[in-house]
Amino acid sequence: MTDTPAVVLERVSKSYGDAGHAVTALSDVSLQVPASQFLSIMGPSGSGKSTLLNLIAGLDTPTHGRVIVGGQELTHLSDDACSDLRLRHIGFVFQSFNLFPTFTAEENVAWPLGFVGLRWRAAKMRAAETLEQMGVDAAARSRLPAELSGGEQQRVAIARALVTEPRLVLADEPAGNLDSETGRSILGVLLQLNTQRRLTVIMVTTTHSRRRTGSEPSSCATAASCVTCMPIPNRATGARFPCTGSRHARPRPRPCSLATPPPAIPARTPASTPGDPAMPAPTP
Ligand SMILES: Nc1ncnc2c1ncn2[C@@H]1O[C@H](COP(=O)(O)OP(=O)(O)O)[C@@H](O)[C@H]1O
Ligand SMILES: [Mg+2]
Repeated sequence: MTDTPAVVLERVSKSYGDAGHAVTALSDVSLQVPASQFLSIMGPSGSGKSTLLNLIAGLDTPTHGRVIVGGQELTHLSDDACSDLRLRHIGFVFQSFNLFPTFTAEENVAWPLGFVGLRWRAAKMRAAETLEQMGVDAAARSRLPAELSGGEQQRVAIARALVTEPRLVLADEPAGNLDSETGRSILGVLLQLNTQRRLTVIMVTTTHSRRRTGSEPSSCATAASCVTCMPIPNRATGARFPCTGSRHARPRPRPCSLATPPPAIPARTPASTPGDPAMPAPTP
């Protein structure tokens, strides 16, 4: 395991809009996330949580400061290099799932593999393995997103984030649209990834969902190394996320034991097979 931190934010600020009407979403945020940590970020709606994840994912750029992921400063990367880092290093789980509606569950998960060079048939085989590990059964794998429950859709979204074997998983309110029991199950999946595969997980959730899903601090209680960071309103600057690091660090020396068996890392499948078609384009 490398000593390079998974993520470093150095005095990061992000404003939207013109100077006269600027909205400050993040103000002077410094944060260091060691590899294999489970970082849970809680805060009210509008406090800058999604902005923070988007900056770490390289989907947006900071107004000031530096974002370093896996030892690479994002502003120094070309667009292609940043896309490549995102594809191979980062798995992003969205609150709204963001699945292609005309693709089956399996095709949705197979889709990113086309960009790392797998042919379509091989990609679908790998997708099926990953979905199985996420607890999505064979029947559900061939259904369209609209034919799946919210919990199944989120498991598909997590499988899609994991299928390229990233080291860092960013989850933006992954249980936000789910009932409390399903939400807990999704959080259990993220915890397993952290404790058993040593993936770094950064998960944000709104403060109010804490009571609804029971996700924190119970999720922290079972993580191998968990930090919770709570943004605190800064009335002086108007900034929504003046959090400057970890507020509550609770390293856990012993590994957690979860009820369900550990998911195995997907076996490598051949890059292509004869007659294997190329990746199809999704239709809106
Ligand atoms: N693209 C954008 N343009 C203008 N303002 C934005 C944009 N994205 C976010 N904001 C503003 O930045 C603040 C933080 O937003 P966000 O990061 O989405 O908060 P959270 O995820 O904590 O709810 C909010 O006031 C929001 O309205
Ligand atoms: Mg948000």
